[in-house]
Amino acid sequence: MERDNTAPHWWQNTAAHSRRRLPATQQDGVHINLADRTLINFSSNDYLGLRQHASVISTATHYITKHGLGSGASRYISGDDPAFAQLERDCAEWKGAQACLLVGSGMLGNIGLLQALATRHSDIFADRLNHASLLDGARLSRAHLHRYAHRDMAALESLLQRSSSDQRIIVSDGVFSMDGDEADVGALIALCERYDAWLVLDDAHGNGCIGAQGAGLTAEAGVQGHSRLIECGTFGKALGGYGAFMVASTAVIEGLIQRLRTAIYSTALPPAMAKAMSVALEALRKTGLRQQLQGNIQSFLALNQDLPLLPSRTPIQPLWMGTDEAALHASAQLRDAGFFVPAIRPPTVPQGASRLRITLSALHTAAHIAALSEALHKL
Ligand SMILES: Cc1ncc(COP(=O)(O)O)c(C=O)c1O
Repeated sequence: MERDNTAPHWWQNTAAHSRRRLPATQQDGVHINLADRTLINFSSNDYLGLRQHASVISTATHYITKHGLGSGASRYISGDDPAFAQLERDCAEWKGAQACLLVGSGMLGNIGLLQALATRHSDIFADRLNHASLLDGARLSRAHLHRYAHRDMAALESLLQRSSSDQRIIVSDGVFSMDGDEADVGALIALCERYDAWLVLDDAHGNGCIGAQGAGLTAEAGVQGHSRLIECGTFGKALGGYGAFMVASTAVIEGLIQRLRTAIYSTALPPAMAKAMSVALEALRKTGLRQQLQGNIQSFLALNQDLPLLPSRTPIQPLWMGTDEAALHASAQLRDAGFFVPAIRPPTVPQGASRLRITLSALHTAAHIAALSEALHKL
């Protein structure tokens, strides 16, 4: 057979690749503008609407006007800015940790963190449904990777019992990004204590939404600042910006400053973004956005209890579809009815576990939620 050399021949099914490029979109509050129409957006991770919050935007605009757009270099060369140190102090205080380190994005943060933390003598124990960045970081570290069934603490414990390494690291999402369910943070910390392990917890989707002041699952479980905990989070979701952070003890953060290759060898965040994220954290404390979001989650659940929603109390409300075709068809039907709800399919989720990933925002109105619920019932 003649080989097609327009792409590497070892990429299988390039032509039939299942991830389609979406039409160009632009968001405006909870609306998303496609080329030909405007839909109500139920797909964003901007759970609190901070992406367009007036004080967040005006802070960023003001800082860009004064100090420019990009940082111009890695933080360790000449790209540092006082806004970074301030945001690190703010994040550490919010998350109840001794210290914080900023990094370019959640993806960069997780890849760099596991590479920095683990060695080829380490055992990493990872939930099977962890975000891709945690899996990639574990692979890059060259540690032995053991994946346990999703949220199965007994399976995790039996792996820990069998480990002969003295460098044990448990790695888990907090709120799981495609399922909306949660790690049992208290149980993970207890296992760390019992088996002399560290916990790397990525609560990208819990931060801003869950716990006192939106400080995430560790705040709710009362384990903030635990000596065995290294937590990561992103500014790209509930905080409405871009970039990421990790919080831990001062000794761990100092060690990461020396080792985190994805920060050392990468351009620092735009300083205006850091300045704006400090204001977003303030908005989290001072506004009622989190309560509004919780109200919307409750109304959505009350209106849709008869649908096959995966169990979730978070803004991520996946509706089970099973096959790719069912998920794509449902997403297209919703689009015709005026709603933007993406179909999530393999490889993002396992084969046969396709779903609609509905995400709720504090900015959705009761009318938006009622209209979506009606459309879901017509599917
Ligand atoms: C659990 C989790 N961790 C990390 C990331 C990556 O964060 P970022 O978008 O800041 O790269 C995501 C999503 O994008 C996520 O869902």
